[in-house]
Amino acid sequence: MRDKAENSEKKVFLETFGCQMNDNDSERLLGFLSGMNYVPTGEPQGADLIIINTCSIRDKAEQKVYSTLGRFRAMKDENPGLIIGVAGCVAQQAGEKLLKRAPYLDMVVGTNNVHRIESLIDEVSRRKTRVVATEMNPAIDAGEYSERYLNSGPRAFVSIMRGCDNFCSYCIVPFTRGREVSRTSSEIIDEVRRLADMGVREVTLIGQNVNSYRDPEKGGEWAGGAGGAEGVGFTGLLRGVAAVEGIERVRFITSHPKDISGELIGLFKDEPKLCRHMHLPVQSGSDAVLKRMGRGYTRQAYLEKVYQLKELYPDMAVTTDVIVGFPGETKADFRLTMDLVEAVRYDGIFSFKYSPRPGTRAAGFDGQVPDEVKSDRLSVLQEAQKGIAAERNTSLLGKTLEVLVEGGSRLDATELTGRSPCNRVVNFPAPAAEGLAAGMLAYVGITAAFTNSLRGIYKERSESCSWR
Ligand code: SAH
Ligand code: SF4
Ligand code: F3S
Repeated sequence: MRDKAENSEKKVFLETFGCQMNDNDSERLLGFLSGMNYVPTGEPQGADLIIINTCSIRDKAEQKVYSTLGRFRAMKDENPGLIIGVAGCVAQQAGEKLLKRAPYLDMVVGTNNVHRIESLIDEVSRRKTRVVATEMNPAIDAGEYSERYLNSGPRAFVSIMRGCDNFCSYCIVPFTRGREVSRTSSEIIDEVRRLADMGVREVTLIGQNVNSYRDPEKGGEWAGGAGGAEGVGFTGLLRGVAAVEGIERVRFITSHPKDISGELIGLFKDEPKLCRHMHLPVQSGSDAVLKRMGRGYTRQAYLEKVYQLKELYPDMAVTTDVIVGFPGETKADFRLTMDLVEAVRYDGIFSFKYSPRPGTRAAGFDGQVPDEVKSDRLSVLQEAQKGIAAERNTSLLGKTLEVLVEGGSRLDATELTGRSPCNRVVNFPAPAAEGLAAGMLAYVGITAAFTNSLRGIYKERSESCSWR
């Protein structure tokens, strides 16, 4: 009898907030769960398991979790067998407290415990207990990354490391993800090979600070520096990943500006599969603010790196993150950020109002900026950036870009959509005779530029990485 119940298909509803780390953890959760006969469902009604994968980078993240959980409470009353779990950064941070505040919650899955999901569910369903798994693991266990449910088409994210040691004064991540630890390059490259076999053509290597990647199997004593010896550091890993047959494009995110090496900058010339896009979070244009943030670079040092990149590679897209209203940020500090943004002319900016996070140094700093001031500064920045992004997109008119087709366009079924190496969304009418499908590469002539996308006409197929 028990076997029958166990073999029958169960439904899991998983809602994911936050960054690519959480997306990746969600895919791993679903991977482990599919081994237990769970299939994903798009709606919570009728699910046997509900998991919210949470983010606490800004705002009142914990409150948001309680209100989201509240939505599922009635379902639990109707179906007492329903298991409800919270995963991700809020789970890691709040732990036991979540169980106390939400009596209908069964399971808290911390960021280092994704791979234990099977035994956690087992405890909940067989022993009828509520569980909290928030132990931090200083190493990566064998098999932690072995399972993955993939539904992202020809593009996939691959986690190369976990945690962060930088402790920028505003940031919660080192507390929610723990100390920085890298996966072995052999395991990463094996995963990329498996992805390529499944039809993935573009991989984005993800970590909080990919430049400090080092292979724990080959590193021995880490001598410091960002590149490291061949096969040990980040550039070695990039080369290894790019060599995987079937992979046409490689990206990475995020690079800490203080750790970018000359070797990495040079690799854009030597490695044609490396997409010419760098996300280089600047956070502020003021040295005084950067110092209080603990970012480890000056405005000048940052600008030198960006200008070097843009000069060497005129087709390089550069994007960034900016925080406005950091404690003590004066009008003059903000002006310096605006000057920097106007000088660099970013292809895209993610901008945020500073949000005090519990336990971080900056939450206790003097000079907290009123919310209205933060909102004003944010809209000034976003308004200026809208114009810059439009100008950057317009500069691509008439150019031919290689597009990795992801599928039909969202708005118009007769159009295809995909991304260029510089990470622009490009839509174009599907030429019926060509049989273009997701995973194929096409050259597209750009005919129109909008704020968030480009449009073009199909020129010809691109068989491989020959777009330069
Ligand atoms: N590791 C990456 C950033 C990860 S968090 C890096 O260092 O670049 C993504 C972005 O969220 C950060 O770049 C920052 O701009 C923003 N952020 C982080 N903490 C924040 C806070 N307390 N308030 C507002 N924005 C924050
Ligand atoms: Fe947070 Fe700084 Fe680490 Fe990025 S580098 S995750 S901003 S502490
Ligand atoms: Fe990512 Fe949010 Fe955690 S940005 S690392 S999910 S706090």
